[in-house]
Amino acid sequence: MIKVLVLNGPNLQRLGTREPEVYGSDTFEDLKKACIDFGKTQDFEIDFRQTDDEATIIKWLHEAADSKLPVVINPAAFTHYSYAMRDAAAMHTAPLIEVHISNPQAREEFRHFSVLAGVADGAIAGFGIDSYRLALSALKKLIK
Ligand code: DQA
Repeated sequence: MIKVLVLNGPNLQRLGTREPEVYGSDTFEDLKKACIDFGKTQDFEIDFRQTDDEATIIKWLHEAADSKLPVVINPAAFTHYSYAMRDAAAMHTAPLIEVHISNPQAREEFRHFSVLAGVADGAIAGFGIDSYRLALSALKKLIK
């Protein structure tokens, strides 16, 4: 089993009640279970985390870089402005995939730019919680 960090940024713990017309009705617990269950089919041990705190997400990216851990990350709003998070992600030593539940390109203009995109191996967006499953299967191929 390969350990994979699945990192989630601010407000994502509110899935299920947060703007369901945008993010769907699956809860954060449903998302966690989907990642863990799908991870097993890919031989991944999923370490699933969420924080509203920028410093914490940076610390986790350092941990991933130091331990050569692959990362699937939904930085939520940090996607659009956190250069500090981008700089931490740029140090990645194993594949790193950006993921979004909604399709930011089809939403408000401030969501069209991702500071992370230039340092990630790829990005998947717009498929609800399936975006995470797609990211984990893409990760499997990158690791092979
Ligand atoms: C999001 C998209 C971001 O623009 C937004 O700030 C989020 C969630 C998504 O998964 O669709 O919090 O990352």
